[in-house]
Amino acid sequence: MQALDENILEKCRSAKRVVAITGAGISAESGIPTFRGKNGYWKSYRAEDLANFESFQKNPILVWEWYQMRMEICRKAEPNPGHLAIAKMESLYPEFHLITQNVDNLHPRAGSKNITELHGNIFTTRCTKCTYNSTLGSDSFPLPPICPNCNSILRPNILWFGESYDIKVLDDCIQKLRSADLLLIIGTSGQVTVPVYLAEEAIQSGAYSIEINLDRSTLSKKVNVHLQGSASEVLQLLMVK
Ligand code: OAD
Repeated sequence: MQALDENILEKCRSAKRVVAITGAGISAESGIPTFRGKNGYWKSYRAEDLANFESFQKNPILVWEWYQMRMEICRKAEPNPGHLAIAKMESLYPEFHLITQNVDNLHPRAGSKNITELHGNIFTTRCTKCTYNSTLGSDSFPLPPICPNCNSILRPNILWFGESYDIKVLDDCIQKLRSADLLLIIGTSGQVTVPVYLAEEAIQSGAYSIEINLDRSTLSKKVNVHLQGSASEVLQLLMVK
């Protein structure tokens, strides 16, 4: 990766309200598979068998086993310099918010506090019937886990295909994106409609937009700058405050 253009660095230096949107690419360097890459989850598993509520109702144990396998990978992984750079940005900018599509918990473990986990968190669970929700510890549990309040089955607290985003959460993100002066889009293929829509909100509202990705994505043409490189390497170069 070459040194960055001074104009890009100046945009980072002068920014006051920053939003970062991250995807699976930022955690790839921590050893967590992406979804659509060479060894991505959707290359070896069918989303329709594992990541929707109908499949869960048909075979909750199968779905839970898949999430337990992924939880194990996430638990063993460590935040990388990319996650740490994002966490540090909270103290560098007057306003900084992170919107992540990742459920792996690596951003919170790196220290990010101003964070929206758009697709949930793999270490949390909620009841399929009542409002019970909880965080899963590292102890193993019998499958499927049962709600202590109402005895219904607990499900992973993850947004599955066909499910709606929480409108209040989206509205909050949109407010932040509309007032952002710098948008960082990191390690996402831009194949999921809502995160792309969110990024476009900031771009259309005039934020200077920087994409960091090893490859081009559906957003590459829409941003001010596409920086081709690994998330951890490029993010460290952007820490110019
Ligand atoms: P994808 O697997 O679709 O895309 C990962 C992106 O990261 C690709 O564009 C890669 O080029 C890029 N990438 C890989 N390694 C990188 C690195 N070291 N540095 C920078 N970029 C790198 O993952 P997402 O876009 O995050 O949703 O997928 C979005 C959603 O689709 C996921 O949250 C998940 C999935 O279905 C749900 O499960 C609800």
